[in-house]
Amino acid sequence: MGTRRADYDRSMTTQLAMFNPFLPSFLADPYPHYAALRGQDPVHRSLALQVWVVTSFAEAEAVLRDADTYSSDLRVATSPLAQALNQQRNASPLGHVATVLNSDPPTHTRLRGLVNRAFTPRTVEALRARIETVTRELLDAAPSDEPFDLMQALAQPLPVIVIAELLGIPPEDRARFKAWSDAIAATTRPMTPQATIEAARRATTELIAYLEPVIARLRQHPEEDLLSALVQAEDSGDRLTHEELLAFGILLLVAGNETTTNLIGNAVLALSRNPRELDELRRDPSLLPRAIEEVLRWDSPVQTLIRFAKTDGRLGERQIRAGESVLVALGAANRDPARFVDPDRFNIRLERERHLAFGLGPHFCLGAPLARLETEIALGALLARWPSLHLAGEPVRGGTFTLRGLEALPVAV
Ligand code: HEM
Repeated sequence: MGTRRADYDRSMTTQLAMFNPFLPSFLADPYPHYAALRGQDPVHRSLALQVWVVTSFAEAEAVLRDADTYSSDLRVATSPLAQALNQQRNASPLGHVATVLNSDPPTHTRLRGLVNRAFTPRTVEALRARIETVTRELLDAAPSDEPFDLMQALAQPLPVIVIAELLGIPPEDRARFKAWSDAIAATTRPMTPQATIEAARRATTELIAYLEPVIARLRQHPEEDLLSALVQAEDSGDRLTHEELLAFGILLLVAGNETTTNLIGNAVLALSRNPRELDELRRDPSLLPRAIEEVLRWDSPVQTLIRFAKTDGRLGERQIRAGESVLVALGAANRDPARFVDPDRFNIRLERERHLAFGLGPHFCLGAPLARLETEIALGALLARWPSLHLAGEPVRGGTFTLRGLEALPVAV
């Protein structure tokens, strides 16, 4: 087994490295592919996908820090592929509206300032007790006298329930909310089929129709939730338009659900496959925050981000032209040996350098404290309740080359 792996690694580095994220072997394990690219061509031109692919930490960091050169606004891109994506986006409800994710300064600065205020560490910390209760209820409901799927039982429902609560959605509407969220999030996959795009449009229209009266009610009777805070931001002048408010609510759904689900799933898988680390964590639960950072680095839930060059410039050894797209492979940068000692080892004891799993610079993940809190509570509860939790079958990989995660994770306790 060890020899076969070594032969494989050698063949990956002697052949000319290519970026083909649609290969089944890439989805199963992108890291040897990334290592080959990083070793040979860290800023690589993919002709098929019409993008530059950045796999080294230093260049990934340089792109993310430099929002003046590398835009988050798809309209900057000139490739036919990017233009087709742009058309697709404009055809969806609210597709044309600026959000923190798809805008550059000064629009980004204005929006981020408003949502930062509504999304303070206090708002997040105030959720701790509720997240603990929801986690306990989900684990109580798990069929623990036989093997069960941890994704279905905990990793999938927890983030959507938390975001629903954050937005002030009542429990009886959660199932509808989750269905809308899944339909919209499905379009974040590359090469989305037309039927999926149509389903997402319907879901967005229904979600807007659902949110409008909620917003009207909160305007009259504000509560303690995030949506009330945003409504007040909208009302306090023309600083957040009504469409921007709706688009932000929808962005939260898409940005915070599958990502956190994947972090929880990737964490349980990483720990199950590295029993020494799992034992260590069981003996010393204070290592939990560090273990979560190591999962974020070692098996990043968001594997790639995209930027668009506004001007000509150099990146590493390469010349990038205005209008070209740059895919920043966070998952690859987070395994760069120039940055991390023994990067392919999952090691919760090492004090590691900062990773890029939540991005960097002005677009650094707004929900990072929430994602960390949810995962800490979820893993803490699993370890405390079921000290002998273990895999009960082969995990089923889901996700895409952009969002790395599991569809199913059979466990027994
Ligand atoms: C493990 C879970 C998560 C991961 C790995 C993750 C990752 C990321 C990354 C890499 C970015 C940077 C995007 C870019 O630079 O283009 C980002 C941005 C963002 N994330 Fe997260 N995220 C997670 C959870 C969440 C949660 C729970 C929320 C909210 C409830 C959230 C909301 C956002 C928002 C609004 C942005 C855009 C910020 C901006 O562009 O200024 N994320 N996230």
